[in-house]
Amino acid sequence: KFDGLAATPQMGWNSWNTFACDINEQLIRDTADAMVKSGLKDAGYTYVNIDDCWHGKRDNKGVIHPDPARFPSGMKALADYVHGRGLKLGIYSDAGATTCGGKPGSRGHEYQDAITYAEWGIDYIKYDWCDTKGLTSAGAYTTMRDAIRSAGRPMLFSICEWGDTRPWEWAKDVGHSWRTTGDIYPCWDCEFSQGSFSAWGVLRILDKQAGLRQHAGPGHWNDMDMLVVGKGLSEDEDKSHFSAWAMLASPLILGNDVRSMPAATHRILTNAGAIAINQDKLGVSAWRFLQAGDIEYWAKPLAGDEWALMVMNRGAQAVPVSFDWAAYHINDDLSKRTADFKTKPYAWTDVWTGKTGDTTRKLEAKVPSHGTLLLRLKLKT
Ligand code: DGJ
Repeated sequence: KFDGLAATPQMGWNSWNTFACDINEQLIRDTADAMVKSGLKDAGYTYVNIDDCWHGKRDNKGVIHPDPARFPSGMKALADYVHGRGLKLGIYSDAGATTCGGKPGSRGHEYQDAITYAEWGIDYIKYDWCDTKGLTSAGAYTTMRDAIRSAGRPMLFSICEWGDTRPWEWAKDVGHSWRTTGDIYPCWDCEFSQGSFSAWGVLRILDKQAGLRQHAGPGHWNDMDMLVVGKGLSEDEDKSHFSAWAMLASPLILGNDVRSMPAATHRILTNAGAIAINQDKLGVSAWRFLQAGDIEYWAKPLAGDEWALMVMNRGAQAVPVSFDWAAYHINDDLSKRTADFKTKPYAWTDVWTGKTGDTTRKLEAKVPSHGTLLLRLKLKT
């Protein structure tokens, strides 16, 4: 891979969670404009990703074309438009013969499609896993990785086989991220299913990350799926969802309609403190170091001897916490980083409330139901 892409988890927007197959070039242009105007671009969201269903047909040479009714100006013009706003354009394909939405997949056309995307000026490829009978995931994704490489344009490669074949074990040098689960659903702790489709709430996805943190790092991330912030969770749940994706260094790909979003959604998605925790250069994912009833504590080492701490309440009742820092000597086997809050006190700031304190006094707070404290800790001098 060695292309320097996704040195920190990729940030952007994707059409699927809100629009599914109902997409067109005007929506993509308006979304790019909205990302600039709303400050999302300045907050770090760079990729504008078209998901499934942009496709028209292959021509008699096998070259794929966008649906002429939905993308009449063509993908090159759209990429130019998006680039003109300082953003990058992503596209979607599938390792099988057809995509999950029944459109032409890339099977047998990998090199041809990679060249086509490069010619259009595409910057990001999400590669799905429907209709893949007879393929192995490592083989199919490696073929596409090599095709992208030979096409000669840096394109971020996002692997989407839902964690089914343990991509964290083989994809480090294949893709820049890999999905660890099936699709997300905007609920706190539920599983939604309809026919053969099933999707999971925030806690279900979070719990599936156990044991995966050592596989993530700069250029190769565990993808917890796209965000559903602003899509039906409560405000506290949205903050918890965003906090968790930040702590676990997941790509931050927006799934809401950014052309119109409530102020509360905008505030969460542009919270600089939460984003900085996600984008931290050390690139180490968090782990859960303590669970006490409905309250759980996660720690993430940050560059420059800093730490992030997440205190999340899974339960239906608000819970008063009283956390005695002095009792904890945090030891991270993975990054070899330690924090002894007793002998070397840290100052903390809650990125959501701006509240401050330090580790010489207990952390006393009432964590709302499904709510989260997200603290950034800095050594006191
Ligand atoms: C399944 C993926 O997991 C989704 O994110 C989306 O890309 C759909 N396929 C599109 O059909």
